[in-house]
Order: sequence, then C-alpha cells, then structure tokens
Amino acid sequence: MGDEGNRSTVPRGLAELRAILLFAPAALSRISEEESIAKASPEQWSLKEELGHLIDSAQNNHRRLVLGQIEDHADLPGHDSKGWIAAHGYQARDWNELIQSWEFFNNWLLSVADRVPESGWKRKAKIGENEDVTLGFVIDDYVDHLQHHLEHIGVKVDPSSEGTRHAYPEKPAEVESPIADLLARRWSTVAFDEARPVERGKIMSLLEAARWAPSCFNEQPWRYLVFDGSNPDAREQARDCLVEGNAWARGAPLLLLSVAYEDFTASGKPNRHAQHDTGMASENIVVQAVELGLSAHQMAGYDADRAQQVFQIPDRFTSMAMIAIGYPYRGKIEDLSEKVRGRESRPRSRKGISEIAFDGKWGKLFGG
Ligand SMILES: Cc1cc2nc3c(=O)[nH]c(=O)nc-3n(C[C@H](O)[C@H](O)[C@H](O)COP(=O)(O)O)c2cc1C
Repeated sequence: MGDEGNRSTVPRGLAELRAILLFAPAALSRISEEESIAKASPEQWSLKEELGHLIDSAQNNHRRLVLGQIEDHADLPGHDSKGWIAAHGYQARDWNELIQSWEFFNNWLLSVADRVPESGWKRKAKIGENEDVTLGFVIDDYVDHLQHHLEHIGVKVDPSSEGTRHAYPEKPAEVESPIADLLARRWSTVAFDEARPVERGKIMSLLEAARWAPSCFNEQPWRYLVFDGSNPDAREQARDCLVEGNAWARGAPLLLLSVAYEDFTASGKPNRHAQHDTGMASENIVVQAVELGLSAHQMAGYDADRAQQVFQIPDRFTSMAMIAIGYPYRGKIEDLSEKVRGRESRPRSRKGISEIAFDGKWGKLFGG
C-alpha cells in the first residue's frame, strides 16, 4: 500500500461536510414551500426532488462507508436517482421535513465516519464497472456532489469563506491538559441568528440533557421555564426581565429560566446542594447545545424578583439563571454592533490549575 509520507488520509470532505451542516439547514429553510415545488419543466427536478436526491445520496454513501469497511474490495452499490425519487414521492413531502431528514442522514453518516480509523480510509472498493477507489475518495466525491447540488438549489457553499467560518463561532479553550471536545468548544456567545427558531426536537434534547444531571439524593431540584416564542407574550416578559447589560440576549429565539427547589422532597429539610445541582443541569444544557450546533449563554443579569412574580414561581423555588439559546449568528462580523463585536472576539481566559487545585492541604500547590 503506497502511503504518502505522514499526510493524513482522513478525507477533506468530512470537515467540509461539517461546515456545510452548520449553515445549510438555515439557508434551506429560507426557501419557501412554493419555491421548493416549482418545476421549470415536467422532466426537471423541483428543489424538493433535488434535496430528496441528496437525502438518498447521503443514505447510499452511508451504506457504502459501512460496506467498504466490512468487506474487502467491496462491490459498492450504484444509485438509480430517478427510481429513488419516485419511490419517496418527494414532491408531495413537507419541505421542512426534507431539510431535517437531510441533516439527520448526514449527521448519521458523520457518526460512522468518525469511527473509521485513519488506515480505514485507504481501503479499496469498487462502484459498478469503475476502477477501484479508496473509501476516502468515496467520501470526498460524495461531498463534491453534495456541494454541486446545493449550489444549484441556491445555497452557496464555500467552506473556506468568511460566511462559513462564522457559521459556528469557534473559540476553543486553550487547555493545559486535554479535555473533551464539547467542553473545549462551549463558550458564551452573544450573537444569535435571530430569525431561526430552535426546533422543538432540539429543545427536548436540551431538557433531556438536564434531566440526566447527577444530584444529591437524586432529588433533581432543577426546573426550567421555557420561552421558545410559541407564546410570544411570555417570551417578551422574559426578555423584559433582562438587565440592560444583557440586552444582546433579547435576540436569542429561546430563553430558559432555571429554577432550584430549595428543600428535599422526602424530608422537607433545606437542600444545601439544590443550587449546585441546578447549575450542573444547566451545564448539561449548554454543553448539549454545542453538540446540537446551538449557542447558549447563562445569565445572572435579570430581575429575579420580577421573574418570580411574573411567572408565578412558588415559594421555596428560587430562579437561578436565564439562559439565552439560539443558532449562532451567521452574518458578517462587521454588521454587529461595536459592543457585541467586542464581546464576540474577546479572548477567553481562565485561572491556572495551580490556582484552583491544592495538594491535600489548602494552599499547597498540586504538582508544584
Ligand atoms: C451563573 C452565571 C451567570 C452569568 N451571568 C452573566 C450575565 O449576566 N451576563 C453575561 O454577559 N454573561 C454572564 N455569564 C457568562 C460568564 O460571564 C461566562 O461564562 C464567563 O465569562 C466565561 O466565559 P465562557 O462561558 O465564554 O467560557 C454568566 C455565567 C454564569 C454561569
């Protein structure tokens, strides 16, 4: 096997696909239902059919990726695009459902691709009568084909462009020791895509993540008030609770208010860890948000008394933090206000490990 020096064999298409997934769903959702069904001529595909073709292609290439690993010199399936489109009846499907399915199947493909060892990308396979290709080539070719169709649909794809780089505001932690990717990538952004609501399924995932936080005696003292805009008045009331310094958070399509129940349910005695545990559930939410391509920012800067009253939060339940959540801002950084721009580009800083960890006794440096 001719290895080309130390060059990584991981296909470049994977990073491109990740970048595409961060902004293409929003761009696709801006296309109206009418635009999505229009046909220039009876033989030509509508945008629904073209996106349907991309869903089929994602599934087919997912299958190729799996087969290429299981079988030596696998005979990878070809693709009858017309037949697949007809079988699915894409023209009669809901546009948003197609966008979600396309996103889902690509994430599914990526979840398999992430498990392929570097050497796996060099495995050879065959598609129809064509020459042998590597699995790495299959993926690069898949992503090239995807970009071609997205551009035809009207979604401009240039993974190296400014627009894409701002798709997810990456400001990774500069760590002294390695940490999990999601932890390193989470940070408190202040600019959101105001026009793009957070889908109900993703809100449920955020709450599910909170559910699985650990807690003292498994009390699960956390509660969340959800302001997703389905009740515009309630969301406006939540926004009105924010202090002036957090005015940027008014642009977040989703606000959550975390609340801690201060007593143990069983004994009725005060739960000294209720607020601690509620904070852990909220950390689960903000980390899960990164996984879902969302930005999340917790805030103490809101009028807690007002929130208690307006939202009729009972006694012994204490609101802890407002959490602004939404898709990251995708426009140009220059179009943001000077204040917001400054916050977005501010470097992140932390105390050193030597300042937060002691070796068996207060003040004694750990490892010092
Ligand atoms: C409980 C809590 C309250 C916070 N309150 C605010 C706030 O009112 N306004 C704000 O802009 N940021 C607020 N933050 C965000 C912090 O300033 C931020 O987490 C910190 O500076 C570290 O930055 P990073 O989250 O980007 O790593 C809060 C964070 C937490 C956990």
